[in-house]
This record gives sequence, C-alpha cells and structure tokens, in this order.
Amino acid sequence: MLSGIEFIKQSLGLHLFFARIMKEHAFFLEAGFSPRDTGFVRQADAFRREFDALLGEAVSLSNGVVAPGVLQSGEVITPFTLQAEMATIYFTGVPIPTELTQDEAGLAGGGIIIANPMLERNVSALNQRAIHATAALIQFKRNILSNVLSCKMFTFNYPLLITHIIREAELYLLQLRRLQSREEIAFEREAYELEFFWNRQMAEHAKFIRGLLDPEENNLISQANQFGNEFDQLTAEAKAAMDATAPLDKVTAESLQATEDLRGFKEQGTQGILPCQVKSIIIPLLGDHVLREANHYLRLLKLFAR
Ligand SMILES: [Fe+2]
Repeated sequence: MLSGIEFIKQSLGLHLFFARIMKEHAFFLEAGFSPRDTGFVRQADAFRREFDALLGEAVSLSNGVVAPGVLQSGEVITPFTLQAEMATIYFTGVPIPTELTQDEAGLAGGGIIIANPMLERNVSALNQRAIHATAALIQFKRNILSNVLSCKMFTFNYPLLITHIIREAELYLLQLRRLQSREEIAFEREAYELEFFWNRQMAEHAKFIRGLLDPEENNLISQANQFGNEFDQLTAEAKAAMDATAPLDKVTAESLQATEDLRGFKEQGTQGILPCQVKSIIIPLLGDHVLREANHYLRLLKLFAR
C-alpha cells in the first residue's frame, strides 16, 4: 500500500508530465482538422483547455512537493518549451497559456516528509478529474481514428500518430487508477512493460519526424530512419525480455544509449526548427513535445538500470 506522502509525490509528478502531454495532444488534433470539421476543432479546443486547467492545478500543488529528479529531467519543460509555445501561438493563433510554463520553470523540488491529509484530499480530487478527462479524451481520439480509417474524415495527423497518442493516454489513465487505489508501483516488474512501451513510442517518433521533414532534408531523413530501425529492434528485444527469452539488463543498457542519442537528435531538430533552419511541417511544439518524452523515458531507464 502506497503511503500518503508517496501518493502525493507520485501523483503530482505524473500530472506534471502527462497533463501537459494531453493538452498538447488536444492541440495537435485541433490544428490538424480540415476547415469542414469545426465541431471537432471546438471539442479538441475544450479538451485542451480542460487539461490546461488540470495542469495548472497540479502546478499549484507541486511547489516544494515533487521529487527534484522529475523537475530536473526535462520531462516537465525544456529550455525550448516557452519559445516553442510562442512560435506555435504565432503560427496557429491558438491561445496556449505560456504563464503555466513560466510557473513550471519556477517550481522547486523537495519532498514532503510529514503526512498532509488536506493536500492528499486535493490530489485525490485532482486525480479523479484527470481520470474522467483522460477517459473522455481517449474516446475522442478513438472516434477520430475510426473516422479517418473509414474515410469519413481527413486530418493532417497520421493515423499512427492518433494510435500513438491513444496509447499514451491509456498509460496515464492506468497509472492514475493505480495511484487512486494506492497501489505500490514495482519498478522491477514494470521495467519490462515500460521499456517495450517507450521503445515503440521512440521508434514511432523517429518515423513521424522522418515523414514530416521536408523531402530535401536528406541527411536528417536518413538519421530519423536509422533511429526508427534501431528502436524497432529495441522494441522487439524488450518484447523478448517480457516473454523471458532474453535478459532485460542488456535491453535496458542498449535502450539507454539509444535514447540518449535520439534525445540529442530531437534537441538538435527542435533547435533547428525554431529559427526555420530545418525545413519541415513539424509545428515547433511537436518538436519540444517528443523531446520531453525522451527525457521522461531516460529518467525511467536510469531508475531501471540501477
Ligand atoms: Fe509520443
């Protein structure tokens, strides 16, 4: 059974990463519809605002509470997040609240050491709201995917991107439900599944980047392609480890190295996209978004590697 203190720390740490990921998914969907689908744009916008509010609430409860390692990992914000948001607002006209990002930059790590029943109740209520919002967002994403796959809708987001963001929302929802039932998370056991999960996500990021670069960016396209292949291989290795036909240690070490490399590639890419040095149809916030996910995965891998 999870202690009250661990429940608070883990819940808020999870929201700081995932509530932002969810609000950005809603934004990517919002920006990808065709002009015909105004109803879908409005729904996506409502989800985006709902997750802005959830993230804002998480931020307001987090100061001096969440583990310093979470704040330092670069999964909450990166040095590029604010600039990527400003460029994205400029390009789309969608009002992304950058003050949230500034508040996150000011968060101090810490660690409460004595029980705080009031904070625990607030966090539990926040988790409950996030569970409802995430379940609804999953339905919305599934509906879009089914429309796209049955030729009822066109969107500029790849079908695989929609599948990819459904999976991430499902992981957030699963972890929230476990926290709400005060389930202790055993990292040893989880490592297999999370390495399989995130290696596949990393492979797909590389493939999204490959497909969204300008066709003349040959060098970057070929690097992205290599990362895609490498992470396909690592996904297969993590699967073999899950089925107990291969040792996990080796997969963890290889995944750590490959994710460090991919992280560097994403960082360079984001740095190149912001001043238009890299030609692409990657919205700047997407570059920063996938960079944060690599940072999140690296923090997990370092825990698994211990
Ligand atoms: Fe992702």
